Amino acid sequence: MSSSSSFWDNWAERYSKKPVADEASYQTKLRQTREYFKPDMEVLEIGCGTGSTALAHAPFVKHIRATDISKDMLAIAHKKATAANINNVTFEQSSVETLEATNESIDMVMAHSILHLLENKEAAIAKIHTTLKPGGVFVSSTACLGDTMKFFKYIGPVGKFFGLIPLVKVFTVNELVTSLTSGGFVIDHQWQPGKGKSVFIVAKKPAE
Ligand SMILES: C[S@@+](CC[C@H](N)C(=O)[O-])C[C@H]1O[C@@H](n2cnc3c(N)ncnc32)[C@H](O)[C@@H]1O
Repeated sequence: MSSSSSFWDNWAERYSKKPVADEASYQTKLRQTREYFKPDMEVLEIGCGTGSTALAHAPFVKHIRATDISKDMLAIAHKKATAANINNVTFEQSSVETLEATNESIDMVMAHSILHLLENKEAAIAKIHTTLKPGGVFVSSTACLGDTMKFFKYIGPVGKFFGLIPLVKVFTVNELVTSLTSGGFVIDHQWQPGKGKSVFIVAKKPAE
């Protein structure tokens, strides 16, 4: 696929073994997401990585289409689903930029730790808005480095040049919120566990 997919292919094994940085906050985000679930829901996840979140949520919804650009991340996700005997999660290799989805067909889109890795998050937000049914929800958790690590704007490209890190965009929580509201979403829930931590946002596409 792209240089981004080979970066994540190379990282997949190590990423899968890395413990969640803040387990308590992760569990809170899972709980807060579940407040929006209904058993008949069709969920799309972009940048699902090794599938942990999709597999944790699978028992609460009808189906999760979990997508990622990296085949090696997806191979690990697939193994985890088989081991857990979970059959309602479909893993698929696709970038958010090339993802195909029928307009207004999805009840919830999840995007965790990925919006800051995209060249154009506004284009992704627009696509997510189009795929959601009216009244659908977009759930995301995003590192907003612009609030506490503005300097990353200068060192990030150097790290990327040497292949040490992927593309990382630097923006603030307020800028992310503006991107979402300008894209037609209404913020329904916003939670940041602490300064410098990823912000968890549930944004709704207004019902017609
Ligand atoms: C930091 S990991 C997050 C994985 C998972 N969502 C989580 O929270 O653990 C970022 C993931 O996004 C994927 N990714 C990066 N750029 C992408 C793109 N343009 N389209 C789809 N997935 C992408 C990577 O392959 C990687 O699995």
